[in-house]
Amino acid sequence: MPRQLFVTTALPYANGNFHIGHIMEYIQADIWVRFQRMRGNAVDFVGADDTHGAPIMIAAEKAGKTPQQFVADIAAGRKQYLDGFHISFDNWHSTDAPENHELARQIYRDLRDRADGSLIESKTIEQFFDPEKNMFLPDRYIKGECPKCHALDQYGDNCEVCGSVYAPTDLINPFSALSGAKPELKNSEHFFFKLSDPRCVAFLEQWTQDGKLQPEVANKIKEWFSIRTNPDGSKSEGLGDWDISRDAPYFGIEIPDAPGKYFYVWLDAPVGYLASLKNLLDKRGLDYAAYMKNSKLEQYHFIGKDIVTFHTLFWPAMLHFSGRKTPDNVFVHGFLTVNNGEKMSKSRGTGLDPLKYLSLGMNPEWLRYYLAAKLSARNEDIDFNADDFMARVNSDLIGKFVNIASRAAGFLTKRFDGQLTHAFGAQGTALLAEVRGAADTLAQLYDAREFGKATREIMLLADKVNAYVDQNKPWDLAKDTANNEALHQVCSVLINTFAALTRYLAPVLPSLAQAVQGFVGTSMQDWNTSADVDAIAPYQHLIARVTPEQLDALFEPKEAPALIEPAQAAPKKIAKAAAPATPVDPNAPGGEALAPTIGIDDFAKIDLRIAKILNCEAVEGSTKLLRLTLDVGEKDADGQPTTRNVFSGIASSYQPEQLIGKLTVMVANLAPRKMKFGMSEGMVLAASHADEKTQPGIYVLEPFAGAQAGMRVH
Ligand code: MSP
Ligand code: ZN
Repeated sequence: MPRQLFVTTALPYANGNFHIGHIMEYIQADIWVRFQRMRGNAVDFVGADDTHGAPIMIAAEKAGKTPQQFVADIAAGRKQYLDGFHISFDNWHSTDAPENHELARQIYRDLRDRADGSLIESKTIEQFFDPEKNMFLPDRYIKGECPKCHALDQYGDNCEVCGSVYAPTDLINPFSALSGAKPELKNSEHFFFKLSDPRCVAFLEQWTQDGKLQPEVANKIKEWFSIRTNPDGSKSEGLGDWDISRDAPYFGIEIPDAPGKYFYVWLDAPVGYLASLKNLLDKRGLDYAAYMKNSKLEQYHFIGKDIVTFHTLFWPAMLHFSGRKTPDNVFVHGFLTVNNGEKMSKSRGTGLDPLKYLSLGMNPEWLRYYLAAKLSARNEDIDFNADDFMARVNSDLIGKFVNIASRAAGFLTKRFDGQLTHAFGAQGTALLAEVRGAADTLAQLYDAREFGKATREIMLLADKVNAYVDQNKPWDLAKDTANNEALHQVCSVLINTFAALTRYLAPVLPSLAQAVQGFVGTSMQDWNTSADVDAIAPYQHLIARVTPEQLDALFEPKEAPALIEPAQAAPKKIAKAAAPATPVDPNAPGGEALAPTIGIDDFAKIDLRIAKILNCEAVEGSTKLLRLTLDVGEKDADGQPTTRNVFSGIASSYQPEQLIGKLTVMVANLAPRKMKFGMSEGMVLAASHADEKTQPGIYVLEPFAGAQAGMRVH
């Protein structure tokens, strides 16, 4: 009986592009999903952006966008990563979509209106309020002096210097990290999900300890149910109630019957799994309620170790007590580190940038294979190591596996017109039986997410095939046509074993498997086929080796983001721009003679970047200038997108709204200039005739479609 599976990965925050940790999670889930599909199981594999919450609201404001615009821009960038790494999601959605608003509110009502007693409770709590921003401050936006060690500038929930944990109200001299204002304590009504209710405790103790979860995960959770001592010495008593509301202004979903109150982002985020599924089913004309009612439906979430609480306590409780199906399991993976555990830093470029990987022409299936070889069912960290990567890809994937095909194909094509024999000889028959006989064991390993063990088994089989090659030496057999039959046999055995091994690797290497399918003519998409190959097409190179140069380029530190001198360092006064009067030459193109020749090095000093015009507005007090807010793909130290402010003398030719949303080209490393109206952090490129009087008109440059903000113009 085919299984019906509903599979998700965690929903990434829509506050930045994917990093390699996200890609690892998607690859892990995708391998599992592709394997299940090959087994004939029906899988719906969905993802979405997690769009809500204070950090995204604040980042959007900083970027001069509405939160909706901000998350839409992030969403637009997802496809190139997902397609680039061959991730086969059936749907990508958003937690801000109507389906999610509706579902989250319904789940809340179901929890609130339970016949056996509500699981929602409201309490008035005291919280810090920023009087300048007019909003309650989340813990991480309150800073101050640590009450224990007196370190300055510590966050509201814990001290990074001495490690103690405290409440924001314990901070000495607290201030708002948003405005710098001294926060005031204010009362606010909050809604709580009563996790401490005996019904919840009993359910969760059962749900988390019944053996489905990974043992190390279940053990960790056990601690949360018991009385324990916190790192700071205080005692916690089992599950506490969960604060699920936030006050306006908040980018989120409004709570039913509670104007001005919003769901805390983690309440509606996992609901996004269901909303994405519902959206997919709607598109297919299928009924969501009927789908969820199927008692055979299995629901799985792939997540990282940092979000276990949300997925093994809050989420199952929300689902169960709102009368819904709970997940069949939650698969927890560890973190990916890069080059010996160096902590990944997005802003400093020590990590592995997935888009850079692709743009260097590196094969996504190398990474898929490498990660598969390192992944297990355990919640443990894994490290991307450049040398190890090269060894596994070049020696194992290509040296042991792909070479089997290239060693046999040439002889078959040249000597036997591409036709294979079905007589394999005793040794060949035994070898082929052994390789094909591994299907069940390998299926169990894949199903249990033991991808490392599976690839190891596959490479052991490849070793056996290579030993058979070395014993039978087709290159020697080929020297004498008297050995034709033996040569035909050996090469046919090799192609058949290669086809079987490819099928085993197809969940990891979908595009290679596709190419092999074209080459051998038997399906690589069905785990259980073991039909003999009849004939091969002429061999085409299947996959290249990774080179040290590629890895060097991949880890070459990012060019420092175009150096902007801090505002203070800018000269106080700029001498009235002594712009050299452009001599108008009616015979020269554009009315001016070409500038003196420069070398490529001179040109290279100018860092031209594609910039997205996020906002454009008139400048009060200037008829010439427009103020542009530009996105050149830069981020601050926290990985938050940052923008540039540029004044451009183009007001005579454009209405601000004509430019908003357009791409253009800017000089990104021009020293910032203090102008009467503020700092100008770069210059936008525009064309004009030298004789502006008789031939007016300024034309802002716009790149061809496909260019992305931040790309360098060479
Ligand atoms: N938005 C929440 C998840 C909501 S799920 C309803 C979130 N987003 S995240 O973008 O921070 O992380 C998304 C996933 O990526 C999580 O499963 C997280 O564990 C995973 N990873 C983040 N960094 C990672 C690594 N360095 N390595 C592997 N996975 C990592 O949490
Ligand atoms: Zn401290």
